[in-house]
Amino acid sequence: MNNPPHIAIIMDGNGRWAQARGKARAVGHQKGADNIRTILKHCRHIGIKHITLYAFSTENWDRPKLEVQFLMKLLEKYLKLELDVYIQNDIRFATIGDLSVFSDTIQQLIQTTKDQTAHCSGMTQTLALNYGAKDEMIRAIKQIKDRQNITEKEFEKLLDTKQLPPVDMLVRTGGECRVSNFLLWQIAYAEIYFCGTLWPEFSPSELDIMIEKFTQTKRRYGGL
Ligand code: FPP
Repeated sequence: MNNPPHIAIIMDGNGRWAQARGKARAVGHQKGADNIRTILKHCRHIGIKHITLYAFSTENWDRPKLEVQFLMKLLEKYLKLELDVYIQNDIRFATIGDLSVFSDTIQQLIQTTKDQTAHCSGMTQTLALNYGAKDEMIRAIKQIKDRQNITEKEFEKLLDTKQLPPVDMLVRTGGECRVSNFLLWQIAYAEIYFCGTLWPEFSPSELDIMIEKFTQTKRRYGGL
């Protein structure tokens, strides 16, 4: 089988990475944000078409106020810095999740990044921001006009991921074996890879090993 067209990643372990080094959790988040660029460029290089990253969940608001504030500042900085990287590497920027809760500054930055990368066609990087699969499905259900006759295809058009193909491969770093409300509909037939590596240390070569396993897997989608 060929490389997976769509890889989704739960980037877990920033806090533990920092704590293990006697540093503040914020240092781990910064390092985690830096690692996104490394993995992104690698995915682009090996011809992955879609990468979707869980950057901030609907549940992450429950973290201490200072950590949430730091993550918002980091997101702002990240968006400002990454624009050139996206354009230079022909990467289109997209989001999933309910953006209405973010500050005007962040919402504007997101829009600008989307507008300025709209012409890029090498790969799409989707950031999940204030995203939760249950929230996404409830928002979709509220839009259904004819509930009795709705088909899977029609329902998919109401999800935040309507522009994206299904997820082929889901990766979670950081050692936990759960999917934490991420893309529950879209991973129906994804191959799932858990690894103990903490996100700031997750490397292109580790991803390559997972991709290699993926290419050797026969996907039957419930058939034979
Ligand atoms: C958690 O590690 C990961 C997140 C809160 C989401 C991913 C965030 C980043 C990679 C950094 C910021 C990203 C952007 C785009 C600005 P954790 O805190 O749950 O780690 P732990 O399990 O070790 O505590």
